Amino acid sequence: MPVITEIEDLKRLYRRRVPRMFYDYTESGSWSEQTFRENSWDFDRIRLRQRIAVDMANRTTKTKMIGEDVSMPVALAPVGLTGMQSADGEIKAARAAETFGVPFTLSTMSICSIEDVAEHTTRPFWFQVYTLKDDDFMRRLFDRARAAKCSALVITVDLQVLGQRHKDIVNGLSAPPKLTTTSIANMMTKVPWGLEMLRTKRRFFGNIVGHAKGVSDPSSLASWTAEAFDPSLDWNRIAKFKEMWGGKVILKGVLDVEDAKKAAEVGADAIVVSNHGGRQLDGALSSIRMLEPILQAVGDKVEVHLDSGIRSGQDVLKAMAMGARGTWIGRAYVYGLGAMGEAGVTRALEVIHKELDTTMALCGHRDVEEVDRDILLVPKGFSGDWA
Ligand SMILES: Cc1cc2nc3c(=O)[nH]c(=O)nc-3n(C[C@H](O)[C@H](O)[C@H](O)COP(=O)(O)O)c2cc1C
Repeated sequence: MPVITEIEDLKRLYRRRVPRMFYDYTESGSWSEQTFRENSWDFDRIRLRQRIAVDMANRTTKTKMIGEDVSMPVALAPVGLTGMQSADGEIKAARAAETFGVPFTLSTMSICSIEDVAEHTTRPFWFQVYTLKDDDFMRRLFDRARAAKCSALVITVDLQVLGQRHKDIVNGLSAPPKLTTTSIANMMTKVPWGLEMLRTKRRFFGNIVGHAKGVSDPSSLASWTAEAFDPSLDWNRIAKFKEMWGGKVILKGVLDVEDAKKAAEVGADAIVVSNHGGRQLDGALSSIRMLEPILQAVGDKVEVHLDSGIRSGQDVLKAMAMGARGTWIGRAYVYGLGAMGEAGVTRALEVIHKELDTTMALCGHRDVEEVDRDILLVPKGFSGDWA
């Protein structure tokens, strides 16, 4: 078992073990990748206040997210194609999350289907949908998610059109991977990955292939997005999806104060302050910069979570201390999954938990629900004085 001390160790292993096409798919942002980079850099700009001689015994990182008990305030974010990072990847990640006691979110663009994940887990998971044109398909997805006992619907609201990631075009990203000289040459260097993939039957978009009609190339994320996604989405339609679902709804991808107010008005149970990990609007501000203004506007009306850029327990603590009620991680767990399968996701969660717990203690706190702005040193004008 390799020694893993931090998320970066998992990323190094992941890069060695998974075909280039899928590593690049994870490790890139849209266009110049400015927002992708700044998501993490801006966490680094916030510093913590060291406190001494306070009782640090009996600490807890337990809390609730949308009323559900969690062992720490970290949910696994929806990530498309997870089953290409490691065979049956969504099942592995969901099982690791269940054992650890944190929520798992299944993407519509997953390889394992809703039913596959439900069959292999006992804790209800969250299901993420994109806003698609086809109401019948949406209705069927909701029915399937209800039948699988999903406890919340996550509606991703920042992807009506797809931000361009150059590497995905160059690599011809698809699931399963298209066999070209370059992709074959690269896959031949990833033997354990390939053998596992050959053993599983789950190599296609499990929620789409066989369920959606009229998709010209179901292996291509780009063509499905262009054909099926609803570019004319508005708040009425979001409210309609909420009604169609009838249960808890989380709106993911809110990055603006005005939008946050609208999200609270439509009655979302939670919002995720997110720029999709820097994969959509390049040039948008980092999520952590937008957290405070959004909390000031709607923090008393709706539960506010944050994702984009979290790579450590220190980052989780910073977001919680600023006032978030939960955080989500994308890449941090995908690195673990690609590196070591289910054990790698568990390791990613363990690393983040230990960092969160120890850092909280060194800041003089014993309960993650009690950390507040007082432990943070935030540069003046951090959220920006933009005109
Ligand atoms: C490889 C990859 C695929 C993703 N696929 C989806 C998706 O299918 N649905 C979705 O709502 N968000 C998707 N996201 C965004 C994540 O849910 C999350 O917002 C983002 O990863 C958070 O940033 P982080 O990776 O820095 O933690 C994806 C992110 C990555 C890295």
